[in-house]
Amino acid sequence: MFAKFFSYFIPINVITKNSSVSKSLEVTWNNGELVLDSKNTNYSYGSLQRILRKGLKYIGFERIKEFENILVLGVAGASVIKTLVDEIKFKGKITGVEIDSNIIEIANKYFKINEIKNLEIIIDDAFEYVLKTKTKYDLIIIDIFQDTKMPNFLFEDYFINRINFILNKNGFILFNTMIINEKDRIRNLDYKKKFDDNYSLRMYPKVEEHNELFTIKKLI
Ligand SMILES: C[S@@+](CC[C@H](N)C(=O)[O-])C[C@H]1O[C@@H](n2cnc3c(N)ncnc32)[C@H](O)[C@@H]1O
Repeated sequence: MFAKFFSYFIPINVITKNSSVSKSLEVTWNNGELVLDSKNTNYSYGSLQRILRKGLKYIGFERIKEFENILVLGVAGASVIKTLVDEIKFKGKITGVEIDSNIIEIANKYFKINEIKNLEIIIDDAFEYVLKTKTKYDLIIIDIFQDTKMPNFLFEDYFINRINFILNKNGFILFNTMIINEKDRIRNLDYKKKFDDNYSLRMYPKVEEHNELFTIKKLI
């Protein structure tokens, strides 16, 4: 594959599509790897996949293997789902919620996510889905970005309480955030304060330049 080979020297764009949610969606060969980017940031594979893999490591691959139901909010190219299925060998059910149907079309075509047997994709706003669902989950991965912006609802009590409600006891939340300025840093400190002693929260700063991860375990 020539594009793959040359991409070690220079990134090679495969397609670019306009997107109302992400400004643009780009599939590119970069360092021998096919990645998905929005206009200003990496969405799937590349550094994003490394970040979430670290988060899953913190929770523990062996523990995750035993889970039954995993919810992924923000699917894009589904790189965290590939980590769950290919590396962790997770055999339970994965539900992926994604607001942008265009991105799922790209993910099916270039990353073959429609071939993942234990994955169900739901095209919906994550906020709406979390309000409606009757299912409880052992792991909830929150990875929602609109280009570089994180929607406000992610940090609001209503959403947080609902996430906590649909999380099983001994279950985990893995939350990926981006910190670009002081305001974001304070936003994350405020987020941390919203979890009482019924939860065990850990913050992992600078997982990669601008990313800070949270793992939150529900104890009771
Ligand atoms: C960083 S990407 C997700 C990457 C993915 N978790 C992976 O492992 O490859 C962020 C995604 O969040 C989606 N998104 C943004 N706002 C959303 C919302 N309100 N509900 C659901 N998905 C949303 C974007 O369309 C984008 O696909």
